Amino acid sequence: MAKVNIKIEGHPYQVESGMTILQAAKACGYNIPSLCSFMDGRCSLASCRVCLVEVKGARGLVASCVYPVNEGMEISISSQKAVEARRSSVELLLSNHHKNCLQCEKNGKCELLEVSKMVGAREGKYIGDMTPATYDELAPGLIRDTSKCILCGRCIETCKALQGIGILGFENRGFKTIVSPTQNRSFAKSPCIQCGQCVLVCPTGALMEHSEIDRVDLAIKQGKYVICQVAPAVRAAIGEEFDEKIGTPVTDKMFAALHRLGFYRVFDVNFGADLTIMEEANELIERIKHNGVLPQLTSCSPGWVNYLEYYYPELIKYLSTCKSPHQMQGAIIKSYYAEKNGIDPKDIFVVSIMPCTAKKYEKTRPGQESKDGLKDVDAVLTTRELAKMIKRSGINWKRLPDNDKPDDDLLGQYSGAGVIFGVTGGVMEAALRTAYKTLTGKEHPLIEFKEVRGLQGVRDASINIDGKIIKVAIASGMKNAKILLEEIKQGKSPYAFIEIMGCPGGCINGGGQPYVKPMFLPNEDDDILSTYVSKRASVLYSEDERQTIRQSHNNPDIIRLYSDYLDKPGSEKAEELLHTFYNDKREKYPN
Ligand code: SF4
Ligand code: SF4
Ligand code: SF4
Ligand code: FES
Repeated sequence: MAKVNIKIEGHPYQVESGMTILQAAKACGYNIPSLCSFMDGRCSLASCRVCLVEVKGARGLVASCVYPVNEGMEISISSQKAVEARRSSVELLLSNHHKNCLQCEKNGKCELLEVSKMVGAREGKYIGDMTPATYDELAPGLIRDTSKCILCGRCIETCKALQGIGILGFENRGFKTIVSPTQNRSFAKSPCIQCGQCVLVCPTGALMEHSEIDRVDLAIKQGKYVICQVAPAVRAAIGEEFDEKIGTPVTDKMFAALHRLGFYRVFDVNFGADLTIMEEANELIERIKHNGVLPQLTSCSPGWVNYLEYYYPELIKYLSTCKSPHQMQGAIIKSYYAEKNGIDPKDIFVVSIMPCTAKKYEKTRPGQESKDGLKDVDAVLTTRELAKMIKRSGINWKRLPDNDKPDDDLLGQYSGAGVIFGVTGGVMEAALRTAYKTLTGKEHPLIEFKEVRGLQGVRDASINIDGKIIKVAIASGMKNAKILLEEIKQGKSPYAFIEIMGCPGGCINGGGQPYVKPMFLPNEDDDILSTYVSKRASVLYSEDERQTIRQSHNNPDIIRLYSDYLDKPGSEKAEELLHTFYNDKREKYPN
């Protein structure tokens, strides 16, 4: 890469040509405040003006997030003019902002608040009318509060460029401009898949998950049997909320914290993941043996299922009928577990702790309940909400023991295959481990199928199962899924099995995971944005390696569940409890 010579604050530096001033300054150790730019220091809108600097010879101040460096450039960050301009930009944003920081869920992780401190913003400097605001809390997954929006456009860009969806845009003009789905519709009434990727990038409390902590508190207070189950991806990131470096394994500490929060039982959704594999692998083998509809598409990511229902409903028949792991486990808790323990299922309240905002929506879907209408899962908390519960309880994370486990009560054991569900390619690998055994009668000699691992958005592999070649593909993020879906639509898909996850990288990068924003990660290196997904993935792969049981079909609690209760994968009872149906939603809420 070609270099250019520049001066910042009078000091000479060589930086890569093509960088913005913001990027170059960061690379040289200067911290220019910024809000609308993405975390890599690039920006398409340059709307917030909090990154203004002075450049010798330029007319007026320049927005450092869009202005490229060039040979001989002299940049002043600390000139009085630049300092005052940045402060005024933030004060103007605050003048049209509903500043109830004390009650705001974003407090502690709010970039606007941090930047206000950085520039020394003064209280009430500009006072005037406020833009009429919308508060949208109809969607189970997320809320939108435009009184907190700074019109930075990050969410618009993410939904469009990263997910390839484009639900969000600017509505109205001038002072009345807000961010919203078309015609200021609710998320619940637009084809938003509730993935929460926009929530991850929002710098303020304008986009947040729909919190359910109060519902969980109430259930505990009412003396219900509140049973919690925690998804594999949560352990890969919850430590970040407690200043652990990204990629630090904290599974046992997480269980220690959960045991102190007042739940009646604490289970791991890895058990449900093992159960999903039993059903999904069986479904795949049945389709292969009986010339059924192929490729089979995985169904454990509700954002992805939503996407298919809204945008490719003609492909619904390819989708596995399996419920997702936590929904399966919820159904088993309220049937098998309740029966064995003599508990009335109506007195059980199942709380799933998930890396995902779309799971909050999934639990409300039709087809996720028992015959008598009892929902499989009653509440879903994100990883961030779990961290809030731990923090408010006064638990000292650093002092938690490093040797706690899920409760060993019928559903306590899990395999390594269940753990890797949280990363893109993990469901595929787990399913292959079991499909191999079912088709050949033998365990795969290497256990691992490394050819399906990796973080590229779309990838494929050919798997040799006793001389029979099975072609499989994996995609994460909806923009990438589209490529594989178009192939199926055109009748050109060469695959038997396709795994799709709604969020880029899989659940470890779900919309309910801790925010990865350098200003809140003091223990991390500057390049963390390019490596955090693989660091979180490594937590799950190393936990898989440590397990003595690594295939779902070898989990003793799963074996007992089938022998005592379900009979076999795909049995009538299994169909009733563990499988679901889908709906064509294209007509319902057209974009
Ligand atoms: S978004 Fe930030 S500045 Fe606004 S109320 Fe919430 S914490 Fe305060
Ligand atoms: S939740 Fe996902 S689909 Fe909905 S607006 Fe946000 S990024 Fe777009
Ligand atoms: S909702 Fe959040 S991300 Fe979207 S424009 Fe407003 S402040 Fe920016
Ligand atoms: S960060 Fe540069 S204009 Fe917003």
